[in-house]
Amino acid sequence: MEHVPVQNVATPSAVGARPGGSEPDHPQIGPLVKAPARAPAPQIIGARGLAKTYPNGQAVFAGVDLDIRADQRVALIGSNGAGKSTLLKCLIGLLPSTSGEITTLGERFLAAPTGAQLTRLRRQIGFVFQNHGLVGRQSVLTNVIQGKLGLKGSWRAWHHALARQEWREEAMAVLAEVRLADKADARADQLSGGQAQRVAIARALIRRPKLLIADEPAASLDPAVGRDIMRIFSELAGEHGITLVYTTHDMQHALDYSDRIVALKDGRVHFDRPTARVSPRDMEGVFHG
Ligand SMILES: Nc1ncnc2c1ncn2[C@@H]1O[C@H](COP(=O)(O)OP(=O)(O)OP(=O)(O)O)[C@@H](O)[C@H]1O
Ligand SMILES: [Mg+2]
Repeated sequence: MEHVPVQNVATPSAVGARPGGSEPDHPQIGPLVKAPARAPAPQIIGARGLAKTYPNGQAVFAGVDLDIRADQRVALIGSNGAGKSTLLKCLIGLLPSTSGEITTLGERFLAAPTGAQLTRLRRQIGFVFQNHGLVGRQSVLTNVIQGKLGLKGSWRAWHHALARQEWREEAMAVLAEVRLADKADARADQLSGGQAQRVAIARALIRRPKLLIADEPAASLDPAVGRDIMRIFSELAGEHGITLVYTTHDMQHALDYSDRIVALKDGRVHFDRPTARVSPRDMEGVFHG
């Protein structure tokens, strides 16, 4: 495995220092302005020596180390069955790992988080999956407000008529962000796949998550709509300072909307690299050879 740290690689120009910190050879012309070294971005996910074997003996991965810092957009790639969905679930405590240590959003746990940790994690994480999981017979607005479930005072969230006025306003605001405010009153089962996925994004956003997990969010969409969804994810993550981790089988989606790509292969992290340094050959190698 090749591991290249992505963030906080302090280049001389970035910190206003000279290579090696040595004194200049020539007399200084003007003051040497020393910018303060940037503090590392907060850690969002840290995993050490993570392994997962399902109870039926199916070994998925082992020895996975991962360090995801705030504001990164990370694409997780790998062939069918490589373990992407399993890894995502382990990292956020929805599935117990077999060994290793995980720290997600400040919650440190071994196999699985405690109930209290899981509650705290859920409050800070938004999820979007391939089959958006909307309640078809309810309105778009109700579905978005239901994103509040699990947050404080959330018993009101099950139906928008009971929801606080401010939540309805928030729901309309996030619907506007995904350009779907005009569909607030439509039934969710009357939406196209792309529209439904935008509602799912709005429902995740209303939680004001620090971390957004998206498992193949564009998988069942046509190419243009799929790109549109990925663009919305990527822009919203940037605007709201949300860390985005998504899986995809579309290599262009991996390259176009991430800052970093993590590839899983043969139960290991095959590479973990800034997207700008991932070549077509690297991508090929994930699926062949
Ligand atoms: N509940 C389960 N019990 C046993 N094995 C499982 C279970 N869920 C997944 N697996 C197996 O674990 C491996 C990894 O599955 P996973 O769904 O994480 O892969 P993936 O990379 O997300 O695949 P895909 O690209 O098809 O979504 C596969 O071999 C799969 O068959
Ligand atoms: Mg999967």
